[in-house]
Amino acid sequence: MTDYKLLKNQMLSLAADEPYFIPVLSNASALLFDALEDLNWAGFYLMNKGSLLLGPFQGKVACIRIPLGKGVCGTAAQKNETLVVDNVHEFAGHIACDGASNSEIVIPIHKNGEIAGVLDIDSPKFSRFSAEDKAGLEEFVRALESVITYE
Ligand code: SME
Repeated sequence: MTDYKLLKNQMLSLAADEPYFIPVLSNASALLFDALEDLNWAGFYLMNKGSLLLGPFQGKVACIRIPLGKGVCGTAAQKNETLVVDNVHEFAGHIACDGASNSEIVIPIHKNGEIAGVLDIDSPKFSRFSAEDKAGLEEFVRALESVITYE
């Protein structure tokens, strides 16, 4: 089981040196991609001009812009809720950036109470993300929200 408390503390310690969102989200995607087993993609999409724009990530080249309501990412952002998808091939409208992905978790990120983006993590394993992963990753995102700056 992933040590989410350790991951959160590592991210907070990196952010203490520099809270600007580009380095923090870059290192956060590196931390998550390295520490969680069976991943093929981990990264961020950020709200920009009304849709989700690709942000810092680890993994293969990914689609650059996702409209709200489209794919797992756009749906999670529009509904403002975490989505855990055990089999992405059964999710209507799933956007296949990397054909290796079979399951996915997407967690909304907020700024001043509004959607600022999402954390998106993909796995080649079906049903990769448990209730413990969801809780640990949501806590990780809450900590990110509390420290990152956008200017
Ligand atoms: N699968 C996502 C698109 C982003 S990639 O997985 C990196 C979706 O359906 O929104």
